[in-house]
Amino acid sequence: MIGLLFWALLPAYVPNNAAVLGGGIKPIDAGRKLNGRRILGDGKTWSGTISGVIAGSALALLLNYLNPLIVQASGLELPMFPLSIVLAFPAGAMLGDITASFIKRRLDRERGAPLPLVDQLDFLAGALLLGGLVNFNWVSSILGLKLIVVAVVMTAVLHVGTNIVGYKLGLKNEPW
Ligand code: CTP
Ligand code: MG
Repeated sequence: MIGLLFWALLPAYVPNNAAVLGGGIKPIDAGRKLNGRRILGDGKTWSGTISGVIAGSALALLLNYLNPLIVQASGLELPMFPLSIVLAFPAGAMLGDITASFIKRRLDRERGAPLPLVDQLDFLAGALLLGGLVNFNWVSSILGLKLIVVAVVMTAVLHVGTNIVGYKLGLKNEPW
């Protein structure tokens, strides 16, 4: 179960990490403000967002390619990603993360300030929402409500872990 979940959500997990590596200097909001506060902030850049979507989609295609091999070797039943999900999981993950930054700025939290749970789950919520919008059938049949609840818990734990690693490696400015 955890194996299937991890596999199915990898294309939603990777974009955030790729965005950290590909993060550039051109903020999406171009420095603009809304009621005196940045719309999104310097932590949401075009290059980071595009890197995230490309990395997530490329990974989904790679997993599709590896699927028969791994299914045969492990005996696990692992899903193939239809093209709608190949695109929607990574794009939704980035949109979720961007939406969270928008909310954080409205709450007067500076770039990098933590917002517990939102920071950990924004990208999962975004990926599942956009995925469900473009291919509800796949999301409900492959995951379903029970697995989504497990995913929320698993994701929060994993995200905290990878961000601590990214922080220790000097890739991220904060451990969240
Ligand atoms: N990043 C990016 N573009 C994105 C998402 C992330 O360039 N769409 C890069 C930025 O360099 C960012 C880093 O990845 O600083 C870490 O991402 P995140 O923690 O989401 O951003 P924060 O800097 O913490 O900003 P915020 O408070 O808005 O979440
Ligand atoms: Mg952050």
